[in-house]
Amino acid sequence: MHVKTDIRLGDCTDILKQLPDNSVDLVFTSPPYADQRINTYGGIPVEQYVDWFLPIAFELFRVLKPTGTFVLNIKEKVSNGERSTYVLELILEMRKQGWLWTEEFIWHKKNSYPGKWPNRFRDSWERLIQFNKDKKFNMYQEAVMVPMGDWKKSRMKNLSERDKVRDESKVGSGFGKNISNWIDRDLAYPTNVIHLATECNNKNHSAAFPEGLPEWFIKLFTKPGDTVLDPFMGSGTTNFVAKRMNRNSIGIELLPEYFDLVATEIYKEEFVLFEKEEKYAK
Ligand SMILES: C[S@@+](CC[C@H](N)C(=O)[O-])C[C@H]1O[C@@H](n2cnc3c(N)ncnc32)[C@H](O)[C@@H]1O
Repeated sequence: MHVKTDIRLGDCTDILKQLPDNSVDLVFTSPPYADQRINTYGGIPVEQYVDWFLPIAFELFRVLKPTGTFVLNIKEKVSNGERSTYVLELILEMRKQGWLWTEEFIWHKKNSYPGKWPNRFRDSWERLIQFNKDKKFNMYQEAVMVPMGDWKKSRMKNLSERDKVRDESKVGSGFGKNISNWIDRDLAYPTNVIHLATECNNKNHSAAFPEGLPEWFIKLFTKPGDTVLDPFMGSGTTNFVAKRMNRNSIGIELLPEYFDLVATEIYKEEFVLFEKEEKYAK
């Protein structure tokens, strides 16, 4: 399957206006967090963050298909001994725009920075906030099932024979244990906590996320041939993963140095593909 990777240089506030309505299946992105990385790409002050983000969220709402999903990776930092509340304020304002706050996933960073503070422990997770336009959206749950492995063996070992058959008789709630469903299965549905190390092969960007992160959400919310958008592309992790998974993608990046890196890489890949096709044709 030939898929298209469309990357654009500029401020996503403007560039998003060029994209058609209802054309994207998944928006997956990690924007600049407030007050962070000011020297690299200008962190937005906490007090201005919601006002800065809302016009972008408005455009994302327009370009997303009604069956699509928007996943926002963000984490508020601590200042003056308190967590900022701007992410929570943003969620409330986005709901006023019409977004549904469907779910919040946690990315558990298995290898977070070491550290010790008198009033808190080291920060080991980030938010992945799921927004939708409609209650009915595409979700391919089977695509992210995980092997039950040892978990199954240890859980099943401790169950009585009665536990192993559907046990609804006591309360009649209809929500019986239904453990029998799991006995012959090797795969289970995951939880909303994703365990991934921060480490990634990508040394070209100071804030690149690991490939496993977009990969998991692309599997869950899209199928091959669908379109994924990352309006804060950075080093293009979302786009490269989307391409490898046979999804079309669009990436927008403000800084020419990151844009050029991604453009060069994509050009190299397309060139190799083109070369192979040429040889095959002969
Ligand atoms: C947290 S990084 C994204 C990193 C990316 N997920 C990766 O794996 O490389 C945010 C990126 O957004 C870019 N950016 C900041 N403001 C932007 C804007 N208004 N429009 C487009 N890109 C922007 C920054 O230059 C930075 O590369």
